Amino acid sequence: PAPGVALPYTPSAPRTQRTANASGRVEFPDGFLWGAATAAYQVEGAAHEDGREDSIWDVFAKVPGAVLNQEDGEVACDQYHRYPQDVALMKQLGIKAYRFSSSWSRVVPGGRAVNPQGLAYYDRLVDELLDADILPWLTLYHWDLPQGVEDAGGWPVRDTAYRFGDYAVTMHEALGDRVGVWTTLNEPWCAAFLGYTGGQHAPGRQSRPDGLAAAHHLMLGHGLAVQALRELAPTANLGISLNFEVEDPLDPENPADVDAARRLDGGFTRIFADPVLRGAYPQDVLDDVREYGLEEHIQDGDLEIISTPIDSLGVNYYHGNAVAAVPPPAQGLDGGAPVLRPTSSPFPGGDGAYTHPRGLPVTDQNWEIQPEGLTRLLLRLHQDYTGPRGIALYVTENGCAYDDVEGDNGYVDDQDRLEFIDVHLRAVKDAIDEGADVRGYFGWSLLDNYEWAWGYGKRFGLVRVDYETQERTVKASGRWYGRVATANAVPS
Ligand code: NOJ
Repeated sequence: PAPGVALPYTPSAPRTQRTANASGRVEFPDGFLWGAATAAYQVEGAAHEDGREDSIWDVFAKVPGAVLNQEDGEVACDQYHRYPQDVALMKQLGIKAYRFSSSWSRVVPGGRAVNPQGLAYYDRLVDELLDADILPWLTLYHWDLPQGVEDAGGWPVRDTAYRFGDYAVTMHEALGDRVGVWTTLNEPWCAAFLGYTGGQHAPGRQSRPDGLAAAHHLMLGHGLAVQALRELAPTANLGISLNFEVEDPLDPENPADVDAARRLDGGFTRIFADPVLRGAYPQDVLDDVREYGLEEHIQDGDLEIISTPIDSLGVNYYHGNAVAAVPPPAQGLDGGAPVLRPTSSPFPGGDGAYTHPRGLPVTDQNWEIQPEGLTRLLLRLHQDYTGPRGIALYVTENGCAYDDVEGDNGYVDDQDRLEFIDVHLRAVKDAIDEGADVRGYFGWSLLDNYEWAWGYGKRFGLVRVDYETQERTVKASGRWYGRVATANAVPS
């Protein structure tokens, strides 16, 4: 660290040398879980069928300018009707686990009463998966809050955490006999800070106090759900999926850059990982955001609830960042392409911390491709958070958007995506070899789908979706990934 900067964590440095697993065949430990992931609003469609009512995303997508080309999830991949085909496809590929989310708005429309028809969909989906010998991995919240709950105040209001706990119990009553793995929240950072502070995501509010209040109540909802599920199912595998970036100071000798990296790390990783796994918010984060009232929402006993022991930590990793205290020279432009992703964080403590391009190759979303960041991240999480508590790590999301070129019969020869997954799997194996307890990997995503504010333009799928015909065509990356899952090894 730069002289004079006391850090509340130990940053690691990018690796300059490629490790042993960078080439050749790489075997994974026995029982390593190979999966694919999606989320309800991104794939289901049937947004107003069988009693489902608006979620915050249905409403947000209608706001002019909120989503590219004003696209919405009304139809999406129509998985609500096509799930048998999608499950069959996974089976054919050799995928062993499906991470999907239930739509709170389908199960409890408007946040009022339970909708049996909505629940019945997840019954059918889970049965179909089990029949195909695919493990159902259920996420309870992937950003689609019922609009009725938002109208009552949304996540900035404490009561929403208790409603979430009730919804978790409802889901368990329906599926607990068949679903053994439960993720409470997906990426609370996005739900809180993109949703309530930056306004790039639903519900599109732009308030610093609201973002921080939402963050705490998401954490509380997580803890309440874990407590309730633990009581109902003592042996279930319970966890949360957090999104992680690896924040490297642009100039490690410059105290201002080091401090900028510390603040982004605090507002991204530690603000969620610390309360869940260590039972306390990090003091430096509380100091960074003091004026926005986070602490007013923390009641006695909350942190005990939030830190109720979990079994696995879900790691969503896409890229790292080089962070500096000054904006990059041509802010907003990178090689002439518009940068839709803000270079300054919506997290209130991230003021004056900017991410800089550092010459690494990027995906079509302009996210840097930095697989060694995943190795460092997994090792850090294992050492500082999960290892000492006997908690397993799963990479619950990793993947990339590329401008796929459709060939004959819809086939996409996406060597770029294949290569992206290959290098990240090797990075996972590096971490395992160095001691991290990583037990599975889920590709994001099974299908091309609704990429939130980017609409359908960004394609992450292992399988191509033709949105006109809803036809599915396995891409080269999907075929390859299926072979990896079947062999439990990455080929040379
Ligand atoms: C994280 C989110 O969980 C998922 O919904 C999204 O599509 C991917 N990242 C890609 O941005």
